[in-house]
Amino acid sequence: MPDRTTAPDVVIIGAGIIGLATAWELARRGVAVTVVERGTPGQAATWAAGGMLAPLAEARRPGPLLELSLAALERYAAFAEAVRDASGIDVEYTGGGKLVVAISEAEEAKLREQCEWQRASGFAVELMDGDEARRREPALSLAVRAALFLPLDCQVENRRLAQALWLATARAGVEFRLGVGAAGVRTSSAADAGRRGRGARRSPRARVLGVVLADGELIAAERVIVAAGSWSGQLDGLPRDLPVEPVRGQMLAVETIPPVLRRVVLTPGCYLIPRAGRVIVGATMERVGFRSYPTPAGVHSLLDAAVQAVPALAQAPLLEVWAGLRPGTPDDLPILGPDPAADGLFYATGHFRNGVLLAPVTADILADLVTGETPELELAAFGPERFDEGAA
Ligand code: GLY
Repeated sequence: MPDRTTAPDVVIIGAGIIGLATAWELARRGVAVTVVERGTPGQAATWAAGGMLAPLAEARRPGPLLELSLAALERYAAFAEAVRDASGIDVEYTGGGKLVVAISEAEEAKLREQCEWQRASGFAVELMDGDEARRREPALSLAVRAALFLPLDCQVENRRLAQALWLATARAGVEFRLGVGAAGVRTSSAADAGRRGRGARRSPRARVLGVVLADGELIAAERVIVAAGSWSGQLDGLPRDLPVEPVRGQMLAVETIPPVLRRVVLTPGCYLIPRAGRVIVGATMERVGFRSYPTPAGVHSLLDAAVQAVPALAQAPLLEVWAGLRPGTPDDLPILGPDPAADGLFYATGHFRNGVLLAPVTADILADLVTGETPELELAAFGPERFDEGAA
């Protein structure tokens, strides 16, 4: 366990699933980590999520997101097992695949397109008609005309995972500063860094000095990771504008005893995630700033889509409604990597719809970067400098 009588080697801003997973990985490599979180760990987007681990459902085409997502999925079984062993909490990692259903002709055409590129990329996806889809999921409506089965997709119980990771990180010696948020990152100015560099190391870059808390305290550290989800761009002192924007997702849960679905079903208007005694229905996609509450219109649209695909849900007891804020970026890709303008500053944010899936691979990448290793994955598509004016 790292020696915590000294200053941390690394401060992580944000204790969502990305911050927690990264802290845990760093601690396992012997790095002294402090995590700053103004609320309770895992209680924002991580808590609101559905826990789907869905590279094939989320990727719209082959490319860097699909590559990163597949690398994440590859790690998940071992990650879930290690978190369970370290915390004693089963995070309910399961497979089972996912059925994407079409109700209209246009939706069926889209499904065929998706099937085509996924098969061409070597994935064993299965296209079927409505009758076959109902044979596999008898609760599906007669209106379902086609479906695509994605065998790879898995799921995890995200709320349990956050609890388990918090416990595992604390047990691994990570220090938590909870209840006071980070106001910003303190860096030496680039000009100072240049002056200091004269005669020694010439550098036009600034250098990280630590994290300033909302109450003015400075936690000194030479390395800082920004993992503050939707709030990442609001930190003071970053050398660039970070274009992370909240995208609200409303969700709800209905009781289903006995179970009505065997596996996750994706319809054009919602997804349906079977869990013990309930089905979780999600999620809206709304750019409404930091309004993180559910609304009648959002809940109505989800219920409408859910009942259209699975009519039996119409009479199920409604258990819970909630909402969370996904950290969106202009190109829907996460921001991962060092800031080229400030030594010691790293980003692990903007995971949009895939934070739960991408947590273990993000943790590995950031731990490699922070400890001076070379990550095995190509990161060019994810660098913060891609948003710079004039960047290709
Ligand atoms: N990953 C699903 C969502 O963000 O709604």
